[in-house]
Amino acid sequence: MTDAADNEEETRGHSLWPIGFAIGVACILIGLVVSWPAVLLGAAITIVSGVLWIREAAGTHGPVDFAAGDALDGGTPSPALAAAEGQHLETHGRAGFLTLATIGLGGVIGAAVTLPSIGFAVLPSFTGEGIETNPVDLGPLENFPEGMFVITTFIGSKDQGEVSRRTAYIRNNGLSAANDPSFTIIYSRCVHLGCPVQPNGPKFEDKMVTYRDVTLTPVQPAGFGCPCHGGAYDTEGNRTAGPPVRSLDRYAFSIVDGNLVLGKHFSVGTVEGTAADAKISRYGQAYPGVHVDGLERWLYPIPVPGA
Ligand code: FES
Repeated sequence: MTDAADNEEETRGHSLWPIGFAIGVACILIGLVVSWPAVLLGAAITIVSGVLWIREAAGTHGPVDFAAGDALDGGTPSPALAAAEGQHLETHGRAGFLTLATIGLGGVIGAAVTLPSIGFAVLPSFTGEGIETNPVDLGPLENFPEGMFVITTFIGSKDQGEVSRRTAYIRNNGLSAANDPSFTIIYSRCVHLGCPVQPNGPKFEDKMVTYRDVTLTPVQPAGFGCPCHGGAYDTEGNRTAGPPVRSLDRYAFSIVDGNLVLGKHFSVGTVEGTAADAKISRYGQAYPGVHVDGLERWLYPIPVPGA
């Protein structure tokens, strides 16, 4: 092989485009967690590096250097130069093809392995899958004695049936200062890792009533506790101990024809005050473990759509 071919092999061995490509992919993955601008930047780096890498691999090279003394004026090249050029073209044609085939096959296998995983992990956040947004009729207001919590279980999704049964702790607060009915409706899912929190206090199971597929059991909690890692909350759902990162989630509500109707599920930063006077810092629905306020919320910039 000639010096020119050797030099070119060396140059091809030190290509920086694969490194740029890898940086771009890393940027995209980090951006999915941190911010969309980082995803766009990563995509740009990946595309540019990938295109230039492919162009380089495809053999878009400069002219072959001629050795001093070879004919450059239209004369006949020496036999040695002709042989070197022939070998150069054959080698790089085959090498280029193999490189492209390897990259292409690697890309197809990589996409086949990673895309389904990414889809299953990320898409539910964008489709709203698993989020109950349908109103649920919980029955007549008389089933909710004023000032007392009621353990309420209900079917979150008619399509999914019993598997979607949820629990909420509901307290009828009477009328607010504006003369509107007030209810505190706390979702039982712990905001650490999602275990079901329990009311700390006596249940009155002999007073349980049912309405359609809703069960209602009065309870007198001093707070709520999570059996998994010791998370504790007060009766407004504020975290008082343990690893949970925010207050317990709540449900909105409405009154329809004298019945309490469960509305959208939302997340809560903190609650100031109590019962009808509570001031709730309300956020879109967030998964357990996700901070919704304070400095830490910048670590979780992607909200759950549809909440
Ligand atoms: S899941 Fe409740 S404290 Fe960990």
